[in-house]
Amino acid sequence: MKEEDFFYINNILHFKISDKESLSFDFLKGRLFNRLKRIEHESLIKKAIGKNKAQLKIFDATAGSLIDTIIFLKLGHKVVACEQSKILYRLLDDAILRAKKEYDFFENLSFINSDSAKIINSHLDSDILYFDPMFNDSKKHLKRSGLLQKIDKILNIENLDDTSEEIFKKVFKKNFKKIIVKRPIKQKALSTKINYAVSGRSIRYDIYKNSFDS
Ligand SMILES: C[S@@+](CC[C@H](N)C(=O)[O-])C[C@H]1O[C@@H](n2cnc3c(N)ncnc32)[C@H](O)[C@@H]1O
Repeated sequence: MKEEDFFYINNILHFKISDKESLSFDFLKGRLFNRLKRIEHESLIKKAIGKNKAQLKIFDATAGSLIDTIIFLKLGHKVVACEQSKILYRLLDDAILRAKKEYDFFENLSFINSDSAKIINSHLDSDILYFDPMFNDSKKHLKRSGLLQKIDKILNIENLDDTSEEIFKKVFKKNFKKIIVKRPIKQKALSTKINYAVSGRSIRYDIYKNSFDS
C-alpha cells in the first residue's frame, strides 16, 4: 500500500486499486446507501437477530464495507465492528466522518482496525457475534458483486487472508450467547451444531445459540 494511492475527489477519500479502478465509500448517497434500503437483506437480518426491543451489543468480526453493521445500527443496536484491512478502515473512517453529521446512529459504533482474532475474546459477552466470511470457493458470487470483488483485490494488495472461519471455529468452543454467520444459500453450515437458519433467495443466516449458562 502506497500513500500516493490515496486521493480525494469531492472531499471523498479514494484508494487506487489499479489504473482502471478505485474504491471509496459514501453512506450519504449512491449505490451503497441504496443497498441498505433493500428490504430482503434487512428483513432477513432482523429475523436472524430475533424479536428484541432491548438494545443489543453486537460484535461484527468481519466489518467489510460496514453494510451489515449499519443495518444493526439502524435497528438501534450498539456495534463493535472490526476490520483487518488498513485500506478499507481508512476509506470507511472517512465515510463515517462525513455521515456522522447526518446519522446519529454512528454514535453507537466503535470501529476497530485489527485482526478480530486478537480482540474477540474481550467481546465474548456480546449479545451477538457476527461473521460474514468472504466466499472463497464461490467465485460466482464475487463476479456478481463488484464491491466484494474490489474488497478481494484490496486484501490481495495487503496480503491478507480472510481468517474469519477459523475464528468462528475457535470461538464456537467458548462461552458465547449467540453467533450469526452469513452464508451463500447453497453452502454448508460452518458447524453441524447449528440451531436454525433464516434463508433468503441467495443468502442464509445460520444461528448458533450457546448451550452454556452465561
Ligand atoms: C465478505 S466481507 C464482509 C462484508 C460485510 N459484512 C459488509 O456488510 O460489507 C469480509 C470482510 O471480513 C474481513 N476479515 C476477514 N478476516 C478477518 C479478521 N480475522 N479480522 C478482521 N477482519 C477480517 C475481510 O478483510 C473482509 O473485509
